[in-house]
Amino acid sequence: SINAVIFDLDGVIVSTDDCHYRAWKMMADEEGIEFNREINERLRGVSRMESLAIILVKSEKEYSSEEQVELATRKNNYYVDLIKELSPADILPGVMDILTELKARGIKIAIGSSSRNSPAILKNIGLGGYFDAEADGNHIQNSKPDPEVFLLAAERVGVSPVECLVVEDADAGVEAGLAGGMPVLGVGAASVNPTATLQADDLSKITVDQML
Ligand code: BG6
Ligand code: MG
Repeated sequence: SINAVIFDLDGVIVSTDDCHYRAWKMMADEEGIEFNREINERLRGVSRMESLAIILVKSEKEYSSEEQVELATRKNNYYVDLIKELSPADILPGVMDILTELKARGIKIAIGSSSRNSPAILKNIGLGGYFDAEADGNHIQNSKPDPEVFLLAAERVGVSPVECLVVEDADAGVEAGLAGGMPVLGVGAASVNPTATLQADDLSKITVDQML
């Protein structure tokens, strides 16, 4: 039985795609690197430095590791400014109903996100301190598709991985959940991932009964 649900943040609880896109785009334009929404799609669920590596495939210039850190930091500074505009209105459809019902039924809820900005985003959308546990990019060594962030979230809510359901919008996240021995509900971009245990367009299209 499922005793905890671990939610990815970006693309599951709130859509930050556009903020990531605009921030990477500003940096890429300054550097003269081709970057578009299609490339942005490949960054879903991927860590900040791994995202930069994907973007730099299009670069003619070779960047040293110090320069790469500067590019990622510059993008993050733009991103931090953009996410200041997020509010509870940006919470995705169905999310609050599912979270409230899980809480009412005594099912633990946790965050398992690659983002180091996860605490700031949760605060801005009014969900700071709402989850029973949070595991994010600040707490892990290995990014999705490694299961580390989900295993840490499971440990923090005190529920064994097989009793945790992961909710993910990224293929890398679906792979991570399955690698951690957890069933996975794919939503958004991952709603067509055939390896996901369950699939739904978004959280308004599934019930808690179907999830458990
Ligand atoms: C993930 C996003 O949640 O976090 C990725 O889907 C992003 O696109 C990653 O690159 C890391 O985010 P941050 O906020 O630590 O740069
Ligand atoms: Mg995501």
